[in-house]
Amino acid sequence: MQREKILITGANGQIGKVLTVALREVFGLENVVATDLRSPNISQGIFEQLDATDFEAMSSVVVKHGITQLYHLAAVLSARGEADPTGSWHINMNSTLNVLEAGRIFKLSKVFIPSSIAVFGSSAPKEGVHQCFYPEPETVYGIAKVAGENWGAYYFNKYGLDVRSLRFPGVIGYQSAPGGGTTDYAVEIFHKAISEKSYTCFLEKHTRLPMIYMDDAIRATLRLMEAPADRISIRTAYNLQALSFSPEQLATEIQQHIPDFSIEYKPDFRQKIAEGWPGSIDDSLARHDWNWKPAYGLQSLTKDMIKHLSESPQFA
Ligand code: SER
Repeated sequence: MQREKILITGANGQIGKVLTVALREVFGLENVVATDLRSPNISQGIFEQLDATDFEAMSSVVVKHGITQLYHLAAVLSARGEADPTGSWHINMNSTLNVLEAGRIFKLSKVFIPSSIAVFGSSAPKEGVHQCFYPEPETVYGIAKVAGENWGAYYFNKYGLDVRSLRFPGVIGYQSAPGGGTTDYAVEIFHKAISEKSYTCFLEKHTRLPMIYMDDAIRATLRLMEAPADRISIRTAYNLQALSFSPEQLATEIQQHIPDFSIEYKPDFRQKIAEGWPGSIDDSLARHDWNWKPAYGLQSLTKDMIKHLSESPQFA
């Protein structure tokens, strides 16, 4: 059997940081190459500085390490993307095409390019959006994700490249900080609840969005990538649903642990982005094809976040 050598882009990002650790557990420390624009603050394992929009640089890292699988986590997220639409399109699209081209030219065995709930816009139903609902995104991030999904399916159909993808909801974890997303409030709120017992939320209190706990997001990724190729019926990106809640519902749950926690709402430009997204999506194909099932709900997620963050040295 071929020994897998993994490359991750965006390894210092919110998901990348945790996925790198998980992949090192699966494939071995010496078989996972973390890459990012910036050097990591963790010294363990192999790291290469890489701008994923630079195809020559990506190619040389792939060749140097004999890479067989690529996980492309580098991206400019929804909120940050709106500040510079053409610049973020350039980064998100060129990096995605570079990954697909690297996959084709170097005959990689598998490629993971995550997508997002941001592919849907206000034309989609508010709840239970079907896998095949026509995506009409309203952010440049969402537009790039839809294009990336279709490019992935194109490389699969035309070149046989084993491209796999998930439409991630907002990801919540204690291990890393998010940056530039519309769902970031759901992580920030925990940090502020512990450090200041109050939080000013940039979304309005009833804005219900799909979310997922980091452990589930990582498990979904590993499970999708481990599934036999003949179980993968979706080559654009699978809808992935875990739980849905509003800022008010999350705040109420946090108050079960921190009774004097208070929240106020000052919606900014991110409110409009959130309003364009559905409150939940239908992930029955992921459940059917590779047995997806989330483990965390609102109560267990809140309890786990508070436990881990309270033990973290930053709050000691
Ligand atoms: N969490 C992302 C964002 O808010 C959605 O994929 O941009």
